[in-house]
Amino acid sequence: MSITIDEMASFCKRKGIVFPSSEIYGGLTGFFDYGPLGSEIKNNLKQAWWKYFVHDREDVVGIDGTIISHPKTWEASGHVANFDDFFTECVKCHERYRADHLIEDVLHMDVAGLKTAQLNKLIKEHHVKCQKCKSELAEVKPFNMMFTTFIGPVPSKEATAYLRPETAQNMFLDFKSVTETGRVKLPFGIAQMGKAFRNEIAPRNFLFRCREFEQMEIEYFIHPDKANECPFLDEVRRHKLLVYSAELQHHKKEALEMTMQECIDKKIISTAWHAYWLAKAHQWFVSLGADAKKFRIRQHVADEKSHYALDTWDLEYEFPFGWKELQGMANRTDYDLKQHMKHSGKDLSLFDEESKQKIIPHVVAEPSQGVDRAFLVFLYNAYQDDKQRGNVVLKLHPTLAPFKVAVFPLLSNKEELTSKAREVFTSLKTAFTTFYDRTGSVGRRYARMDEIGTPYCVTVDFDSLDKQDVTVRDRDSTKQMRVPINELKETLRRLLAGELAFSKAGTPFEPKKEVP
Ligand code: GLY
Repeated sequence: MSITIDEMASFCKRKGIVFPSSEIYGGLTGFFDYGPLGSEIKNNLKQAWWKYFVHDREDVVGIDGTIISHPKTWEASGHVANFDDFFTECVKCHERYRADHLIEDVLHMDVAGLKTAQLNKLIKEHHVKCQKCKSELAEVKPFNMMFTTFIGPVPSKEATAYLRPETAQNMFLDFKSVTETGRVKLPFGIAQMGKAFRNEIAPRNFLFRCREFEQMEIEYFIHPDKANECPFLDEVRRHKLLVYSAELQHHKKEALEMTMQECIDKKIISTAWHAYWLAKAHQWFVSLGADAKKFRIRQHVADEKSHYALDTWDLEYEFPFGWKELQGMANRTDYDLKQHMKHSGKDLSLFDEESKQKIIPHVVAEPSQGVDRAFLVFLYNAYQDDKQRGNVVLKLHPTLAPFKVAVFPLLSNKEELTSKAREVFTSLKTAFTTFYDRTGSVGRRYARMDEIGTPYCVTVDFDSLDKQDVTVRDRDSTKQMRVPINELKETLRRLLAGELAFSKAGTPFEPKKEVP
């Protein structure tokens, strides 16, 4: 049984992973700071994403764009006119609600995509009241979620600018510059990681829905006639996912497990490229230790799609508070490039060498990942309350763990042990993020490292002084092995890289088995 989201928030606060922002002033709803450990985990996660989706590929390049861009960006993108949520408030206590979430919570009804009139009708018909004081609710109204600010000293309509609500627009704004300088040819992607801001009516579920958050996004551009010509499809043809199509939702049926090939053959996913990117998004999570079975892909129903999307699938995760979107992946077609062409007057078309045509590329898929949501997935996946040990064990993948290794002297008051342990620590800390701890019993120190996810602990004892070896203890199995100090760095490197594992029998180490 997983812990609740509130229990996760308090665990994160206790351990220095995530804190409420501005807490000395009472906090600020929907804003969080990553603490000493959380910032390490988050950086590791982002680096892993960048490696997987940019560095390890030949067809994706990165950019790092501004948070504030020309205000016309958001008129062209449609966000000024369409980026609305719907809110209502209690006429008496003035508690505010996002209308669709309130109806979902109270009536257990799926209302994705419904607009003002339909939401008002449901509230009236079902006598939905304020959840705090049970009074009447005011009329539902649309509310634009972009944060506004002013450029320069005089606030005015002309000086109004927006904090970006998605990182995606930078990829369209920089499209011409990237294609002119980036040595890219279709198909290719432009990736970016960075902060985005949405003035959520009612932020909730800790890091899941924040007002300031971070995204890792790719806009993947193809020739408009080649949506089914994905040269990488073999990588994912047999990849299985739980699939929840719009049709299954319409008929109130359960999601079905299918291969990507079946989804393409049965035209459940309309393009091969879209199927490919959905599978890759799932594979990335699984490559960092997430449980493959806790994910599904869900197609947006007709009313739910964003204004720019032809077809959208969300990669969802089964949190304790339900199946929730981790990653929205829209087929944005040429909507954005065309809109920016219209509003800027600039030609954003490309000459495609292969087809010898001038074309406006299509964004066939936009893998758009919330960093904070991914962070939450990995924490939930790792968190285990180990009753036998009497402490929490955070079984983070070594790539994500804030410290890879901890070094302890067996006793803190024996100079010969502490100086040897410092020597070992110094030799390791430039190779791995390494923590030195000499306080409390060794058992207590192991527990502290379990709780922050450190995969390996190294203990220096009296035998270490004579035999020049140390004990290495494995976080997940608690098994221990003696390792010569002169082999320690390489052994830890191989353990962390998954080339070596603690054997079931305890000794010696064995090569890591390939998981079929
Ligand atoms: N760019 C898509 C999103 O932010 O959801």
